[in-house]
Amino acid sequence: MAGRYRSDLKWSDVTAKADYVNRRQLMMGAGAMAIGGALAGRAQAQDDLVPNTWEEITSYNNFYEMGTGKDDPKRNASLLTTDPWSIKIDGMVDRPGTYDLGDILRGKSIEERIYRLRCVEAWSMVVPWNGFELKDLLDQVGVQPSAKYVSFETLVRPSELPGQRRNTIDWPYREGLRLDEAMHPLTLMATGLYGEDMPNQNGAPIRLVVPWKYGFKSIKSIVRISLTDKQPANSWNMLLPNEYGFYSNVNPEVDHPRWSQATERRIGGGLFAKKIPTLMFNGYANEVASMYAGMDLRKYY
Ligand code: MTE
Repeated sequence: MAGRYRSDLKWSDVTAKADYVNRRQLMMGAGAMAIGGALAGRAQAQDDLVPNTWEEITSYNNFYEMGTGKDDPKRNASLLTTDPWSIKIDGMVDRPGTYDLGDILRGKSIEERIYRLRCVEAWSMVVPWNGFELKDLLDQVGVQPSAKYVSFETLVRPSELPGQRRNTIDWPYREGLRLDEAMHPLTLMATGLYGEDMPNQNGAPIRLVVPWKYGFKSIKSIVRISLTDKQPANSWNMLLPNEYGFYSNVNPEVDHPRWSQATERRIGGGLFAKKIPTLMFNGYANEVASMYAGMDLRKYY
């Protein structure tokens, strides 16, 4: 099953960094020439998984711990120390403990996964992540039969995370998944992108990536994972419960109370880029829709 998502080839194996950093521009340029117009060349089809550039992925970010502006995370990124790093794993597990990141990574096969990332704010990117399935880590610590959910917390360290000196969010940033979502083979613990270590602004040294859910579920810089039998609190739901739910599956048919979710703006598309249609479950419906069979997705938004 996992093999279906596995990719043996990494960008960094086949391309010099200078090339892949510019790859998107090159490909868009080529497309534009082929159809004879720069503007038409920018209209990206939704299923065209052309990764965004390194520059785009690392300079337009949401990471409130590093500030609320899109360019704050990059500016404040170097303040954060990510080595040493450990993750406390507790709750309904057979082997609870504080695990050093090195011990977590030992024996894990790091794969490349090229996933769409759809922010609830209606912009999107395509990111070539490197990481391992969360399931592999959960299996390592032994999930007990009573566990139904997984909760996650981000580091709290205001001395290095200037955004945490303000209470925009009740820190730590928290997120949660149902256990079947957490065990799904698409759910990734990402440790890098484009074959490089994860940049701090993208959630170094390790973050969650759940590609069929709005980006805020993909919690960054994780220091705690707990197995529980109660639905965990998640930060955006705590802040604005009428706007952000627990499930937060990408759904073009259920609008945010303040804007439509039917379309999205692909970052890097240029000034004249058309919005592209948002896909159900962000294009991963074949893989994940069965987990929500019979659920009212308007109620469980
Ligand atoms: N994780 C933490 N700890 N703090 C945050 O503010 N923002 C979320 C998510 N994870 C956020 C977070 C949101 S809203 C999005 S869209 C994605 O991270 C953005 O990931 P990126 O900056 O790597 O594109």
